[in-house]
Amino acid sequence: MSRWEELWSSGETPWEKGRAAPPLSEYLEQGDTVLHRARHVLVPGCGSGHDVRELARHGIAATGLDLAATAIATARAREAVGSEDYVEGDLFDEAWRAGRELDAVWEHTCFCAIDPALRPDYARTMAEIVPPGGYLVGVFYLNPWDPGEDATGPPHGATQEEIAGLLEPWFVLRENRVPGRAYPGREGKEWLAVFERR
Ligand SMILES: C[S@@+](CC[C@H](N)C(=O)[O-])C[C@H]1O[C@@H](n2cnc3c(N)ncnc32)[C@H](O)[C@@H]1O
Repeated sequence: MSRWEELWSSGETPWEKGRAAPPLSEYLEQGDTVLHRARHVLVPGCGSGHDVRELARHGIAATGLDLAATAIATARAREAVGSEDYVEGDLFDEAWRAGRELDAVWEHTCFCAIDPALRPDYARTMAEIVPPGGYLVGVFYLNPWDPGEDATGPPHGATQEEIAGLLEPWFVLRENRVPGRAYPGREGKEWLAVFERR
């Protein structure tokens, strides 16, 4: 059993906020974003699927991927709101991708969850999933620790420069800002970035 499945099955899910990421809602409320224009959006490390359902509520077809069977079962148990589905699998394993046509990614707390040694693999995987002209849109949790919390991770922190540098061989940074909305405690700690695949 993976460490993530252990956490999910024992109910140790401090990241679970019961609603979609506020920066995603804020971004989608702009209307006509690159995610609205995508044919099918992947949400890696989707957990119980709040962000997947938020995309679906905006009429966007979305697939949530998670390593943990309990996360996927929890997501599937929620009432569907549009064109969404869920798949259990490891982001770094190609098997779950078979037969899926994806052209965009919404990233939220997957990047900070993975081992930093795998970040180059994360960037390469994003480049394999998103075709040229497609988009990786993400809210990156740069300083994911509460005061006094053990910073050994996961979650693991990052800088804007590190993320942009990892993706640079395949992606152009088109837009970025600190989101106006955040879960309580995350204000000012996140970075919203829109990357276009070269
Ligand atoms: C910090 S949680 C965030 C969940 C969700 N994004 C949220 O914010 O509610 C990270 C999630 O990523 C999943 N995960 C970690 N490594 C993964 C991998 N290699 N492939 C797919 N999912 C992964 C975990 O099972 C977990 O559900």
